[in-house]
Amino acid sequence: MISKEFYKELEEFIENLPDKKDDVKILNFVVEKLDSIPKEVQKFIANKTGILEISIENTINFYPKFRNKVSDLKEVIICTGMICGQMNGHKIYKELMEMLEVDSNGISKNRKIILLTKRCLGRCKKAPNISIDGEIYSLVNLKNIKKILGL
Ligand code: FES
Repeated sequence: MISKEFYKELEEFIENLPDKKDDVKILNFVVEKLDSIPKEVQKFIANKTGILEISIENTINFYPKFRNKVSDLKEVIICTGMICGQMNGHKIYKELMEMLEVDSNGISKNRKIILLTKRCLGRCKKAPNISIDGEIYSLVNLKNIKKILGL
């Protein structure tokens, strides 16, 4: 999970900008801190600044220094909501955290994966669910997650 401290710092950084819509400055700040630009952070920036997510994506794609920071980071979201949580969601998250040696921002030691959690992925009937780069996988267990991720 990306730390609350990071979001707090990012929020303060945005608030102190003379131009709050200066996405290049904001993205530079993110890269400096996380060495990546996770989707979740892009959404946060969009919410805080009113810049459309698609515009942020366009800026990222325009500058290689940003583009390189999103291309190979796989976003893995483990549902730890009420239903998935009861069906091993927490356990899966904990085991993956240990296996991938994620830092306080959820980034794996090899810097290939960002591991996040969500309260519900909208597929409770097929719990436990995870999402990898936006694609949902249902009825998962650690073994098949490892296989999907090539671990
Ligand atoms: S609680 Fe996991 S999909 Fe709803």
